[in-house]
Amino acid sequence: QTLAVSKICCIGAGYVGGPTMAMIAHKCPHIDVKVVDINADRIAQWNSDQLPVYEPGLDDIVQQCRGKNLSFTTAIDDSIRAADMVFISVNTPTKMFGVGAGRAANLEFVEKCARRIAEVSEGHKIVVEKSTLPVRTAEAVKRILANSDNAATFDVLSNPEFLAEGTAIEDLLAPDRVLIGGERAEAIEALVSVYANWVSRDRLLTTNLWSSELSKLTANAFLAQRVSSINAISALCEATEADVDEVASAIGTDSRIGPKFLKASVGFGGSCFQKDILNLVYLCEYFGLPQVAEYWEQVVKMNDYQKQRFVTRMVRTMFNTVSDKKIGIWGFAFKKDTNDTRESAAIYVCRDLLLEKARLCIYDPQVSREHILRDLRSIFTEGDGVISDAKQKLIDEHVSFASSCEEASADAHAIAVLTEWDEFADADFDAIFDSMKKPAFVFDGRNKLKAMDLQGKGFEYHGIGF
Ligand code: NAD
Ligand code: UGA
Repeated sequence: QTLAVSKICCIGAGYVGGPTMAMIAHKCPHIDVKVVDINADRIAQWNSDQLPVYEPGLDDIVQQCRGKNLSFTTAIDDSIRAADMVFISVNTPTKMFGVGAGRAANLEFVEKCARRIAEVSEGHKIVVEKSTLPVRTAEAVKRILANSDNAATFDVLSNPEFLAEGTAIEDLLAPDRVLIGGERAEAIEALVSVYANWVSRDRLLTTNLWSSELSKLTANAFLAQRVSSINAISALCEATEADVDEVASAIGTDSRIGPKFLKASVGFGGSCFQKDILNLVYLCEYFGLPQVAEYWEQVVKMNDYQKQRFVTRMVRTMFNTVSDKKIGIWGFAFKKDTNDTRESAAIYVCRDLLLEKARLCIYDPQVSREHILRDLRSIFTEGDGVISDAKQKLIDEHVSFASSCEEASADAHAIAVLTEWDEFADADFDAIFDSMKKPAFVFDGRNKLKAMDLQGKGFEYHGIGF
């Protein structure tokens, strides 16, 4: 017997909660979906024409469903109470204090959700972990829910999200798989039947709770590991005249390796790879597996090295000084087609260039100037949450913004491509070359631009890994 789902509440209206619930509402017109958040500004944005998340295709879906079976509200308790199924899709950042600081996931927000659900629920509900969580979290969630104020009962499922930003809608429409971990077949089937409205059954994988929780951390660790592996090889390519993109396509044709996720870059960013690997490292240490912890930690260390290496190469190539030189920064988001900058390599590259006293002129088609300034201030913020006068002055006097990549590089000594926005490949390179100081250096952290074309126009082009 299946538990019927006609009302869903999702706690957390972020990059995952918003798009995921929009897709469920879009594909399941018979289900009423409410997305709730404690952040009233975010909810107001979801209810406006300017959604808080930039994702190709998202606006259309939200517009079609909002006001029908999709709503965004701060009425958290009422929405939980009315729902048959409650998703927890809140943030699980790296814990920055106390036990496990810098590694463990901060589960404060997840626990608060579980307590809220326990407090306001009546009858029976299925609680779904959508956030990425350390393996065994469902155990804690179940114990908290067991103390419900109104003797409500619960099933707990793990249903990690695998969407990537920039392609969230595509990924949600046609996922490689949907993973559902649980204990009771009826509860698992209830969630399966939601996804079965648009995902074929052979892509709906069901496992036990712990395998599902651990598969999410493992998937991100494997993906990030591929990027760090090819980035490690990119350093060797630069020393040996091998070309990393050629190496990547050569190895990618081996069906056991596969061609995807082998793009060498200035370093991976995003809110999850680093946080999830550090969480995995913490878990391994916690369970007494230091060798396993060390193995995975290397993926993050290699990524840090790649970001530092990029700046070192820029400085060395530009005659060992970038002080007072204008550098056009092309792109600030952690990848193209998103306005998200969390853990973007650009933040670290800009920090290190500012410490070299370079003058940065930044252009990103989707990230606002205020947002970039906030990121730069926060990377220079000391442990006590305060930015020193000297660092604030460094930002004030050395950072400016442009409305196009052409403007960002006018009169510049160098261009640093930090995000692979498609529009960069179509820039007016003749005009850019004329307007730049010579030699006109291009450091392409994404191997996005055509090296040969640029060299033909007179640029001194440096890609990653050749
Ligand atoms: P986010 O920060 O964009 O959104 C989380 C939202 O939860 C915020 O708006 C916050 O205000 C809200 N929130 C926090 N505590 C709350 C509470 N007690 N009650 C109500 N609302 C609360 O985070 P995100 O990027 O959507 O990530 C959410 C989870 O999904 C994380 O665990 C992340 O690891 C995972 N994940 C993220 C992605 C991604 O692409 N961003 C992909 C897969 C999985
Ligand atoms: C990643 C995973 O791809 C998703 O499956 C997962 O759901 C998500 O993390 C999550 O848990 O948050 P996301 O971080 O949004 O998605 O974006 P990716 O496409 O994975 O890119 C991550 C970073 O790696 C970006 O900075 C990207 O530029 C970089 N990258 C990716 C490379 O440098 N090279 C590659 O070949 C691929």
